[in-house]
Amino acid sequence: MPEKTSRFDADLVRAQWDFAADAYASFQDAGDDYYRYELFGPAHVELCGDVRGLRLLDLGCGTGYFSREMSRRGAIVTGIDISAGQLGHARRHERDEPLGISYAELDAASLTSAFALGQFGMVTACLSLQDMPNPQRVIAAACEVLQPGGRLVFSISHPATDTPLREWQTSSDGRRYGLTIGDYFDRTAVSYDWRGTPSRYAFRTTAIHATLADWFGWVLGAGLQVRGVLEPRPSVAALQRHPDLEDAAIVPHFLLVDAVRPA
Ligand SMILES: C[S@@+](CC[C@H](N)C(=O)[O-])C[C@H]1O[C@@H](n2cnc3c(N)ncnc32)[C@H](O)[C@@H]1O
Repeated sequence: MPEKTSRFDADLVRAQWDFAADAYASFQDAGDDYYRYELFGPAHVELCGDVRGLRLLDLGCGTGYFSREMSRRGAIVTGIDISAGQLGHARRHERDEPLGISYAELDAASLTSAFALGQFGMVTACLSLQDMPNPQRVIAAACEVLQPGGRLVFSISHPATDTPLREWQTSSDGRRYGLTIGDYFDRTAVSYDWRGTPSRYAFRTTAIHATLADWFGWVLGAGLQVRGVLEPRPSVAALQRHPDLEDAAIVPHFLLVDAVRPA
């Protein structure tokens, strides 16, 4: 169960993601993060479309998963993250498979002091904006570093289903069939304990819960226009490979938004 918490600031985020770095990296490296590989990752790549030749900034890049996806498709990528521990793994991947990605340790809230305005053709944030203490400010800053006509394409945990109160309903045979949600209108920080399968992945992170209207208000308020929205659901083949994904066929787990800075 998520737990509401009062503290959510840059120091806490840095400390939590540093602590989580090795476990998070091995979770991904072992292929166990199949919600990523089967669901939100491919959907996010699809929403970005043709990125060849684009100067692309990846916010909250973590171990560099999405930075690499974009670089392999021809973008010229800079990845930033607040956590040196996460970046250590991103740089390890870059050493093992050089793609020409630049990484920098930076709080995304300070984007405009680190990058010239209007220089990127695309800004991405793969499952990271909700982990930042001030996503509204980050979205506004992302708009400023975009060229006119450039796009912000982000994925977040779904605000309508990843609520502070959240309980799966299961039938007598243990199958999930529904989700109880509550406290949807609470704008609050929420702590999550990552203790999935296998249980060696044990760490805590904090994220913000805001409503759907908040998120779209932040995008529109920054001066961006929404071009597309996705709520990915698992394919039949993905469900066969990973039956656990069934819960993502019952309710959406992720929301993806494609927004453009008007030319
Ligand atoms: C759930 S992870 C996602 C990482 C990566 N995008 C991926 O797809 O695996 C969230 C990341 O956001 C980073 N983060 C949180 N707040 C940040 C901030 N203010 N500025 C930059 N990065 C931040 C964390 O350090 C962490 O690496």
